[in-house]
Amino acid sequence: MTDATPSPGAPARRVLLKLSGEALMGSRAYGIDPTVTRAIADQVREARDEGTEVAVVVGGGNIFRGLAASESGMDRSTGDYMGMLATVMNGLAMQDALEQAGCPTRVMSAIAMNEICEPYIRRRAMRHLEKGRVVIMVAGTGNPYFTTDTAATLRAVEIGAHVILKATRVDGVYDADPEKEPDARRFTRIGYTDLLAKRLNALDATAVSLAMDNEMPIVVFDMTQEGNIARAVRGERIGTLITGEVTA
Ligand code: GTP
Repeated sequence: MTDATPSPGAPARRVLLKLSGEALMGSRAYGIDPTVTRAIADQVREARDEGTEVAVVVGGGNIFRGLAASESGMDRSTGDYMGMLATVMNGLAMQDALEQAGCPTRVMSAIAMNEICEPYIRRRAMRHLEKGRVVIMVAGTGNPYFTTDTAATLRAVEIGAHVILKATRVDGVYDADPEKEPDARRFTRIGYTDLLAKRLNALDATAVSLAMDNEMPIVVFDMTQEGNIARAVRGERIGTLITGEVTA
């Protein structure tokens, strides 16, 4: 029995899968790699077929990064809005891949664009999940200055998810940048306050604080390893678990 196996009569396990935009690029320098979206879709479908309710929040960094644009002189809010639009494109790509894999979906946006997708309405999102639809939440929180990690945390708390699964290209949280420091140590478990105190960049401080205040566990894992999304969704112990207490 894994953590994902609900006891009889218990509500279904509900997870919030956060996909970074960069993760959708695969080995490309920009945009979306259809083989990656297909691989993600197959794993999400598998998990959904096993009874887990899956909400997805997608980033947009593979198409546009608001913060980087503001560093080159663009107005920060304008850059962030462009980034939010990028997440809509990624969300539609994920919807297409999931539906081709035979998984019903609904895309819900924090910014109204009714011709393209539904508006995000919390109670409606929860009904979709109960009906076995994968709900893809796009346009971040709808506000500039908030990352998609913060959007993922906010939505996870709102819909009563059991855990946030942050799928990235790194296999967890390290005490230093593993690409620069070969001796960097990976945590299997780390406390919210430790993460904040050490100023580790795995997630931004707003997202971590919101998760901490609402006791929302976060698993950071490497989605480039085949089958890891399905493992994480099932509740297998992979990557790093960010949780309460644990003074590293
Ligand atoms: P139920 O209430 O369970 O029947 O959910 P449903 O989503 O199937 O019902 P609804 O009739 O609201 O939606 C039918 C289709 O229209 C779905 O594919 C929705 O995603 C889509 N849809 C609903 N609202 C909107 C909207 O505001 N804009 C767009 N573009 N599509 C929408």
